Amino acid sequence: MNIKIAPSMLSADFANLERDLKEVEKSGADYLHVDIMDGHFVPNITIGPDQVAQLRKTVDIPFDVHLMISEPLKYIDRFADAGADIITVHVESDGEIQACIDAIVNKGIKPGLVVSPDTPLEVIEPYLDQVRMILIMCVYPGFGGQRYLPASTEKIRACRKMIGERDIELQVDGGINFDTLKEVVTAGADVIVSGSCLFKGDMKENMGQFRKIIQG
Ligand code: DX5
Ligand code: ZN
Repeated sequence: MNIKIAPSMLSADFANLERDLKEVEKSGADYLHVDIMDGHFVPNITIGPDQVAQLRKTVDIPFDVHLMISEPLKYIDRFADAGADIITVHVESDGEIQACIDAIVNKGIKPGLVVSPDTPLEVIEPYLDQVRMILIMCVYPGFGGQRYLPASTEKIRACRKMIGERDIELQVDGGINFDTLKEVVTAGADVIVSGSCLFKGDMKENMGQFRKIIQG
């Protein structure tokens, strides 16, 4: 299986974002994971579509935009116009999941759904034939550098089974580091988000270490 790696921008140095994003690009990352937080859906705030549009011009790597915002439908067009290649929406956000998927598809980009740790997988079942990515949160959304929640492993395994033959990427996010990586890959994850671990020290070396663990 081809495993993709998506460094999370949340752990970058925001005073030197262009430099850090270029590091991500040079390291051979598959996607840049862009965490969008509104201070309402989660108790933290990051950036909006205007900043994403500016950052998009600095690197040539797919932008995987993870919306942790209360009313995603209101902003999907703006993030798509800003250059998102994938947009994932939390099923716990204010309703209108179907409309969100339609809006993302209408923009010609990849739609995905996210489940937080306390959300059962069953809620995404009705949308399985429409999404191209499922993101399993392995920590409570809002902050980088948290510990991997062990119950996530079983959920990843169940999700892989649920996906079956469908063309859906199974992404994991939160607490993925040199110690937990093997476990999520073995359980069936094929897009690995990692922030604090990849950004600590040398990104390229860390990516190499990730690839080694994945292959080993
Ligand atoms: C958390 C974010 C994650 C975060 C992961 O809400 O969605 O993308 O950056 O950070 P680490 O890898 O440090 O857990
Ligand atoms: Zn994220």
